[in-house]
Amino acid sequence: MSEQPLKVILTRKLPAEVEQRLSDLFDVTAYNDDKPMPQPALAEAVQRCDVLACTLGDRIDEDLLTLAGPRLKLIANFGAGVDHIDVQAASARGITVTNTPSVLAEDAADMVMALIMAVPRRLVEGVEALRDGRFTGWSPTWMLGHRVRGKKLGIIGLGRVGQAVARRARAFGLSVHYHNRNRINTHIENELEATYWDSLDQMLSRVDIVSVNCPQTPATYHLLSRRRLELLHKDAYIVNISRGDIIDEEALADMIAEKRLGGAGLDVFSKEPAVNAQLMKAPNVVLLPHMASATVESRIDMGDRMLINIKMFADGHKPPDRIIPEML
Ligand code: DGY
Repeated sequence: MSEQPLKVILTRKLPAEVEQRLSDLFDVTAYNDDKPMPQPALAEAVQRCDVLACTLGDRIDEDLLTLAGPRLKLIANFGAGVDHIDVQAASARGITVTNTPSVLAEDAADMVMALIMAVPRRLVEGVEALRDGRFTGWSPTWMLGHRVRGKKLGIIGLGRVGQAVARRARAFGLSVHYHNRNRINTHIENELEATYWDSLDQMLSRVDIVSVNCPQTPATYHLLSRRRLELLHKDAYIVNISRGDIIDEEALADMIAEKRLGGAGLDVFSKEPAVNAQLMKAPNVVLLPHMASATVESRIDMGDRMLINIKMFADGHKPPDRIIPEML
């Protein structure tokens, strides 16, 4: 690689210590706004950098990549999901794409558990009732939710986050079921006491709580379609911290409104930052603003992971977290 430090363009404001560490190593231009970089600025950036350090708000599609200059060789994503990047198109142009998996898995799993507890136990409704002055003292029949212990949890995608969820779920007395593209190895399956379902349909018709933990890819778009949502029993709950489009959000909102599901805990939405109006109104739905990895620790670790990928690449090695298009 060249003697000159690589030209890295950051598309978004990152934690100060991450920006500092990147600037110590590379020739960094930071877009110092806490909003996604506008498309014209992105188009300009891909023409003049070696590395585009981006986030999930950026749309890095084929049209943008056709504008890329010959210098652009690495798209280093700050985050695990790469559904906003056309990885195939990047690969066809010889551009490597990396992400930051693992480092956010534990915090994301905590948020899944928070939602698994919050929805059946009506946590947000309780807080609102108290704040609105509707708490008139303990009552044997008021604010009753449903017990979590003993329920069957169906995890879709038993990767890093899914496994971290399974470990926590065991401690809460849930039995763990999972559906995955490939069955995981027996050693991990035994450790998690997890039951594998080759058929997602069959798993859905038997579980009480579903946690969506697979990445969004063309194959998982609307994986939870209306037909599949209808396989769930009417008191089942759905938790999603992965990507909104894995669920047919309109179908989910209709079914919640029609009381054909017990409730949902959602950290992600189809048209973020817009949120489906029906879901917004539903009392048995807990909605969060895409914050499952939002801890200081995770965000710094994500920055460090991104830096490691860029540094390995700059030193002429294969970055550890490169995305293999065929694996998507
Ligand atoms: C990711 O990493 O893709 C999350 O959605 C944001 O941290």
